[in-house]
Order: sequence, then C-alpha cells, then structure tokens
Amino acid sequence: MTGHAQVLDHPLIQHKLTLLRRKETSTTSFRRLLTEVGTLMAYEVTRDMPMHDVEIETPLETMTGRLIDGKKLVFVPILRAGMGLLDGFLSVVPGARVGHIGLYRDPKTLVAVEYYFKMPSGMRERDAIVLDPMLATGHSAVAAVERLKEARPRSIRFVCLVSCPEGIATFSQAHPDVPIYTAAIDRELNDHAYILPGLGDAGDRIFGTK
Ligand code: URA
Repeated sequence: MTGHAQVLDHPLIQHKLTLLRRKETSTTSFRRLLTEVGTLMAYEVTRDMPMHDVEIETPLETMTGRLIDGKKLVFVPILRAGMGLLDGFLSVVPGARVGHIGLYRDPKTLVAVEYYFKMPSGMRERDAIVLDPMLATGHSAVAAVERLKEARPRSIRFVCLVSCPEGIATFSQAHPDVPIYTAAIDRELNDHAYILPGLGDAGDRIFGTK
C-alpha cells in the first residue's frame, strides 16, 4: 500500500504494463494487452469480495460450497478510455452489471462536465468498481465518483493502470473512503497533464485515434 493506493505488483501485470508503455506497441496489441491486464487486475481487486455458502451435490456427496454474487458487482468505465479495461473485468465476472459515466473537460473552465450517466437498477445493493486506465490530475475521477455516490452503491473501488502522486493526492483528498488499485505510481504530470513516463494518451492508443 502507498497511502490510499494499492499497487498491484504481480509480475504478469507488470510485464504487460511494460509492453503497453512501449511507443511501438500497435493499437491491436495495445487493446489486447489492456484486456489481459484488466483480467489480472480484476482478479486482484476482487480478492476480498463477499461470498455466501451454498449446499451442492458432488457426484459423491453433499457439501457446502462458496459462491460470489457476480450480479451484485457493477463495473463502471469512465468513457472513453475506461472501456479498454472492461472486457478483461467481464471475463473474470461475466455476470457483473455495467454502468457508464461520460465526462469531458470544458476547455475554458477545466471543469468536468457530465454528458452520459447510466447505472443499473438496485445500486444500493451493489459494489461498484470504477475503471479508468490513467489517474492523471484526478479531476475526472473525482467528478465521476462524486456522481456515482449519488446512486448510493454499497461500496466503491477505483481501478487505474497508471497513476501519479498528484492524481492520488487529489483523489484521496476528495474520496478518502474509496480505495485506489493501480499497477504503477509514475513520477509526475507534465504541463499538458500527461503522466511521465506514462504510456501516452490511453484513449488514442486503444481506439487508434491519433
Ligand atoms: N490521460 C491519458 O490518457 N494519458 C495520460 O498520461 C494522462 C491522462
């Protein structure tokens, strides 16, 4: 743990992150690797999920097994880059629900403006996992979680691939109750709010829009 952020340092996650950072990694590979890393991160982030006992019959006898309730989980990608992690998360918990939050930054005021918000019903019984590959200034993550809290989910976790000290500080100050899971805490933000060394613009790299 680094303060509020837990670094997921599994070798497979770190290996794939290094491949994602390389500037020569193609859009096709970037997308595939991000899905793979999403799968591995989902595995770590759901480690302490609540379980319930169920009575089952094996071919030999009756026993009490344990199950998670995947339907209680809601994955919430922040559009658009958060979509890059979604398939990986769904491959681990296929029954999870998905909510979407769309935000853009007003170029004049720099305030995050919501353009889309859609959650499944029954949010009060659900555990939400917010997905965004990059925690840079933290402004859109703070705004997204603020909005999500209005739906009153049972719990919220925030997952990003790459973070930086500035983003973690801003996010933790606004939402001390929301743990951050990240694969890396990079050095700093540059003047254009890109993370250094980072991996560039995650959305452009996923969707090939550069
Ligand atoms: N968003 C990105 O996609 N990359 C960064 O480095 C910062 C914000």
